[in-house]
Amino acid sequence: MERFCGFGLLLLGCFLMSGASLVLHSANPPSVCKSCDPRPGNCMSQHCSSNCDVSQTCPNPQDVCAAVWWREDGVVTLETMCHDPTQPLYGVMLEDVSTSDCLLTSKYVRGRDVRLCACTEDECNERVLLSKPSIPDQTKSFLEKIKRPNIFPELCKFCDIRSTTCNGTGICESSCDITAICTSPDEVCVSAWRRNDGNTVVETVCHDPALPFHGQYLQSVDYDSDRCLMKQVKSLENFYICSCNSEECNDKLIFTDTSSPDEEKKEVLPVLLVTLVPLLITVLVIVSFFYWYHVCRQLKVIDHKRKGMDSETYAIIGHEDNRSDSSSTNANNLNHNTELLPIHLDSVVGKGRFSEVYRAKLKQGVTGVGEPFQTVAVKIFPYEEYISWKTEWEIFSDVELRHENILHFLTAEDRKVERQYWLITAYHELGNLQEFLSRHIVSWEELCRLAGSMVRGVAHLHSEQTTCGRAKVPIVHRDLKSSNVLVKTDLTCCLCDFGLSLQLDSAMSPEELANSGQVGTARYMAPEVLESRMDLENTESFKQADVYSMALVLWEITSRCNVIGDVREYKPPFGTLRDHPCIDSMKDHVIRDRQRPEMPSTWNSHTGVQLLSSTIEECWDHDPESRLTAQCVVERLNDISSMIDVLPISSEQKTSEDSGI
Ligand code: ADE
Repeated sequence: MERFCGFGLLLLGCFLMSGASLVLHSANPPSVCKSCDPRPGNCMSQHCSSNCDVSQTCPNPQDVCAAVWWREDGVVTLETMCHDPTQPLYGVMLEDVSTSDCLLTSKYVRGRDVRLCACTEDECNERVLLSKPSIPDQTKSFLEKIKRPNIFPELCKFCDIRSTTCNGTGICESSCDITAICTSPDEVCVSAWRRNDGNTVVETVCHDPALPFHGQYLQSVDYDSDRCLMKQVKSLENFYICSCNSEECNDKLIFTDTSSPDEEKKEVLPVLLVTLVPLLITVLVIVSFFYWYHVCRQLKVIDHKRKGMDSETYAIIGHEDNRSDSSSTNANNLNHNTELLPIHLDSVVGKGRFSEVYRAKLKQGVTGVGEPFQTVAVKIFPYEEYISWKTEWEIFSDVELRHENILHFLTAEDRKVERQYWLITAYHELGNLQEFLSRHIVSWEELCRLAGSMVRGVAHLHSEQTTCGRAKVPIVHRDLKSSNVLVKTDLTCCLCDFGLSLQLDSAMSPEELANSGQVGTARYMAPEVLESRMDLENTESFKQADVYSMALVLWEITSRCNVIGDVREYKPPFGTLRDHPCIDSMKDHVIRDRQRPEMPSTWNSHTGVQLLSSTIEECWDHDPESRLTAQCVVERLNDISSMIDVLPISSEQKTSEDSGI
């Protein structure tokens, strides 16, 4: 009975002890726990597996299953064991030991983030759950003091480099099943996306922004975000990086419209199109223009050589043979036929410096229809004046010069027997403008006709294109005067005598321009020509000098118009000077005394003449740059004549018109 009682007491004691133990821990302590020395854990996004294959029946009834987690050099290590919760583990007392899951809480152990957990079910420490680390108050206040917003070491996806199906658009998952607690609170989560030879990889890591990542420093504007926005690595086409600082934020790789490689191309393409297309079109237009210009010039030369004589010449001459000579190398409208044109010289109608002009009869074709001959003008140069003949012939040879207000050129001839060079042109029986004005007073309409046509001739000469828009070499006359303007029977004018003219070819060198010197007729010379102070490098200055001379001719025509009251006898500009004033006396007059031909006050009595006078004044301005261009004068004259057409004639004007001759 005593033995029974003793055993019974023992049992009761055991029962009471175990009961007390149960009361102490409130939950059922596990009898079996994972128990492994530190070994690499296998971490998923929310938990880590201890990889422990050793299960231990805990020695103490109060023991719980425990796990210790830490990370070193990116490797997560886990240690599992049975543990008496009344004892410290790694110097730290476990807090919550009654849960069925092993939920890691962060404890700073000698400045390092070590995470511990405990749980009360069999082998519950096989899997540990991750949570944000907590840091001691002292550390918190220290970090607050130094104002570091990132006080927690980050939980980031940490799979290093893995292949991915992400194509770099929209939002991609990293597909990384490892979550790591970054070693230091300074580190942020980083993802990198790369495509190389069709191989696409994603890299997920923690990274300290103080250090370069793939040679690039992360930007705080990027990693201070809780979203991982992909940005292209400068100069690398298929390399994108994002960084951020919230839990596992590098799991989602966000390619925005502008960052995505494909989208970027889509963005860049319209920009390129918008900028490059107009540029290409401009280049194309310029190239085509130059090509077209070149081809036109080539064709022109070929055409000249082929024809030897233009179609109008043929109509006059009626000789097919005359235009078939293409063998000559300098055959621009040069009649090289051994059979020279059947021309009979009548009488001299003009004399120039190096030549004489004849009225002549050109025998017409054999058809017998119409007139037996055509009246032409023949300008004859002695053999010694070959250069003058050639210069003028070359000017006439430009087919683009053809214009109703430029003397019509027929052909050139080398009259070997007579040792003469000929230029054969249209004949105008009214002679030159100077002769015409000395014999005639003109009405307002005639003034407009004569002046307008003459100015159109100068504008065409100066122009870089024909009326039809074809390219043309601008030419300056350099000896404009009323005796070098011919009057046609319809009272329009044409310019003649191009012996001093100059083609303002782009091929002309500054030396050639500089050597072109002081030429023309002193009376009509612009001040800068008289002084030899022309800007020879600027081809416009030659045109400006022509405009000055043209203004004097306009004055001559106006001075003979019957709408200005008392029309005096014809006098050339600066008529008070002797017949052929020398350069020095012109300089005194035009430059020193700033004289210009007189415009009496009666010129203001007619609105048209008044407007024309102002235009003339703008053309003979002392400053060449201030002068109007010939084209501008054409437009002014058009405006003036059409305005006067619609204006009622004032009584004053009417009286002066009635008293006209
Ligand atoms: N004087 C100079 N050239 C002339 C021409 N072609 N017609 C009439 N007279 C001129």
